[in-house]
Amino acid sequence: MTQIAIFDSGIGGTTVLGRVRDRAPWADLVYVADHAFGPYGERTLDEVRTRTELLARYLVSAGVSEIVIACNSASAAALHHLRDVLPDVAFVGMEPAVKPATELTRNGIVAILATGATFQGELFRSLVGQHASDVTVIEQACPGLAAAVESGAQVGPLLDRFLPPVVRAGADVVVLGCTHYPLIRSEIEERLGEGTVVVDPSDAVAKQVVAVAHDHEIDLKGVASTVYWTTGLETEHDDGLRWTTIDIPESAAGAVRTGETTMSAVLGDITTMLVDAVVNAANKQLIHGGGIALAIALAGGESINDESRVWIDEYGSLEPGTAALTSAGRMPASYVIHVAGPIYAEGKENEELLAAAVFGALDTASEIDAESVAMPAISAGIYGYPADEATVVIAESVAEFIDNTGTALRSVRLVGYDDAMTKRFAAAISSVT
Ligand code: APR
Repeated sequence: MTQIAIFDSGIGGTTVLGRVRDRAPWADLVYVADHAFGPYGERTLDEVRTRTELLARYLVSAGVSEIVIACNSASAAALHHLRDVLPDVAFVGMEPAVKPATELTRNGIVAILATGATFQGELFRSLVGQHASDVTVIEQACPGLAAAVESGAQVGPLLDRFLPPVVRAGADVVVLGCTHYPLIRSEIEERLGEGTVVVDPSDAVAKQVVAVAHDHEIDLKGVASTVYWTTGLETEHDDGLRWTTIDIPESAAGAVRTGETTMSAVLGDITTMLVDAVVNAANKQLIHGGGIALAIALAGGESINDESRVWIDEYGSLEPGTAALTSAGRMPASYVIHVAGPIYAEGKENEELLAAAVFGALDTASEIDAESVAMPAISAGIYGYPADEATVVIAESVAEFIDNTGTALRSVRLVGYDDAMTKRFAAAISSVT
């Protein structure tokens, strides 16, 4: 069981991870980089708060006991809120080291380097109010710097713009107020005056992580494992780390983990999704004349209709619990798995039939060794299944399948075509775990 998650918009939090590992040598750690949504510095506070809550809930569903928000922007936007909405979880956040800076300064001038989002948050204001009333605090926002560190781009030109004002103001203490900045500490130091003290709060945070674990009676004696999760689909990064994708795309409205599989509620057009297989809410004859079926046939091209006809000629009509497999033609996915949900009717076994369609789709996905699948609100359109009920049946069936089959599927996206359906899926998946 993983004890501590260390979470950042990208690789910046690895500096904190390193210090936590020093202080908790046997703990089982998971490092989470939100590559699909980062960098956070240029997002609004609201967006960062919503996204951070979503990921925190995901980590809780994965069994994590303590969450370190190793990102100053996310801490500024979300830390208070997270403690309110998830009171049973131990949270540690990053705050700019205003207090240590005020203790270290000799001339009474300190500078904080951070993202714009960090300065906007109430956390920063309250720190300055509490600890820095009798020193001058230079707030130097560094837009684009974390993103440059993240992507491995040149940081020199940016630092040549952001640091001279700090030097001119005479700051003798400079705080690295973003977890990405310690990764370029030497480039920063080169541009500061002799004797300027640079403060990196990583170790202080790590100390706090261990203290909070102790307060919450979290046992940190694991097997010293460290795993790296990224929300990005691209797991090849030139940072030498072994990343595993947790598929929580930018437009996700909720995500939970069951076993090794991520189930998410995602807003979007299924025909554009880069997954191994998309599920089609088809009819028994595989005549793709309307709704999502037509959208898939149009996006994929003629081969979808051709292969569907061949399938019907060979096997007859598509019965509950069975699925037809075709290629995905021109869509980014590799396959389409066609299932026919029930036409909703009072007094009929709607739930059993819808569950059978979901199982049929996932059985086929497993047979072709798909790792990721996107599934729409089967039956909840033209077939008239009340959407509040259909989304729950679909989410429960997916969870049951994952629990009972030891599937190789790593991601099941439940796709809403509009906000309302996506929210229903999000509510449904949060209630199944
Ligand atoms: N991406 C994601 N979801 C979509 C897309 C899309 N591109 N297009 C439609 N949807 C959503 C709809 O908004 C709806 O919520 O998929 C859900 C299912 O819609 P329908 O296509 O109406 O499916 P269903 O209710 O199962 O009816 C199946 O409709 O098109 C015919 O051939 C199909 O006869 C069958 C019947």
